[in-house]
Amino acid sequence: MGTPIRIGIIGCGGMEKAHEAAFEGFEGRMQVTAVCDIVRERAERAKAVLGAQRAVTDFRELLDVVDAVLIVLPHHLHHSVGMMCLEAGKHVLMEKPLANTERECLDLIEAAERGRRVLMVGYVQRYNPLVLKTRELIQNGALGEVFQVSIWTEQFTRFSEDKSWGHRKETLGGGQLFSHGCHYVDLLLWFLGRPVSGTHDGTNLGTPWMEGEGTSNLVMRFENRAMGYHFGTWGARGSRLQYSLHVHGTRAMLDTRLKEGKIFLTTWEKGEELIFEAEPGKHTRRQMEHFLICVETGRKPLTDGRSSLQSLRVIWKVYEAEAKGVVADLRGLGLEDVEAS
Ligand SMILES: NC(=O)c1ccc[n+]([C@@H]2O[C@H](COP(=O)([O-])OP(=O)(O)OC[C@H]3O[C@@H](n4cnc5c(N)ncnc54)[C@H](O)[C@@H]3O)[C@@H](O)[C@H]2O)c1
Repeated sequence: MGTPIRIGIIGCGGMEKAHEAAFEGFEGRMQVTAVCDIVRERAERAKAVLGAQRAVTDFRELLDVVDAVLIVLPHHLHHSVGMMCLEAGKHVLMEKPLANTERECLDLIEAAERGRRVLMVGYVQRYNPLVLKTRELIQNGALGEVFQVSIWTEQFTRFSEDKSWGHRKETLGGGQLFSHGCHYVDLLLWFLGRPVSGTHDGTNLGTPWMEGEGTSNLVMRFENRAMGYHFGTWGARGSRLQYSLHVHGTRAMLDTRLKEGKIFLTTWEKGEELIFEAEPGKHTRRQMEHFLICVETGRKPLTDGRSSLQSLRVIWKVYEAEAKGVVADLRGLGLEDVEAS
């Protein structure tokens, strides 16, 4: 085994805590050498938990002791911080969404390609065994012809300060769909391929702290005529659906319950059966393992910059069409070309 990859974490707020478990069990392969947050106590807390050597309040002060960084910052900072890290020769695991505009995303992608650095986006659901199993069953024909995939995400998200970056369009990059729905738009593309058209409608009724929508409804039509749907809200505490994927096929239906860690299959013959179980939760450790493999071997990440940009392009197009009151033309988007490359 070679020298352990030295990791720096930039941003030690809410989501960074969900990443902490991801660092266990990689002794000899990686170590967290430095952590950064503009709020010193947050950096010091993370340093103590992770046994890092250095806690700093300016990320430029950790660049000399890291090979790679995990960026867990407000969205409007992803571009500037990511660019400086890539230009300093660091591999980057960027929390989603990659950045707030197409140009910013392309800057990051091109900087990574120029410097031959890994740029991976934290679309953590793609590393979730329940999601992987769902995709396998969609693709291997077990469900017959799949004609609809519906995704529900219900959560209550309100940052402690009213003027938080997470409430404002300019800093968040949009509303619920852009910030959280991007995970699930990415999954719809991964499951169903190339989209043709889409519509979005949202509201901040029930989430008045949100400048953009706090509740989002997205409908997409795909080239094979299958439909994708996503409902996401930041204004509820969660019904039985919570985080669910429902797949309707001509032979069978799937009910993937991410919160319970279970997949149920329903057929005419047998009714509902539990067919798969896996650990519920965020699977940040599997995501980290993939990142380490990519850094170690130079392999292209499953969720690299270019593939993650596809979901953001869908979102920008449906937002634009929503403002004009028209249906968005999504032709030309999809993940196939990216995956084949
Ligand atoms: N994958 C998921 O399921 C998931 C869930 C939640 C959040 N996220 C993502 O994680 C990222 C952070 O979100 P969060 O909820 O942790 O936000 P947060 O506001 O809780 O944390 C952000 C942290 O960054 C720090 N910070 C701000 N400016 C900084 C700077 N210039 N230098 C260093 N530190 C700075 C803040 O002090 C704060 O501690 C976002 O990209 C978000 O979309 C992902």
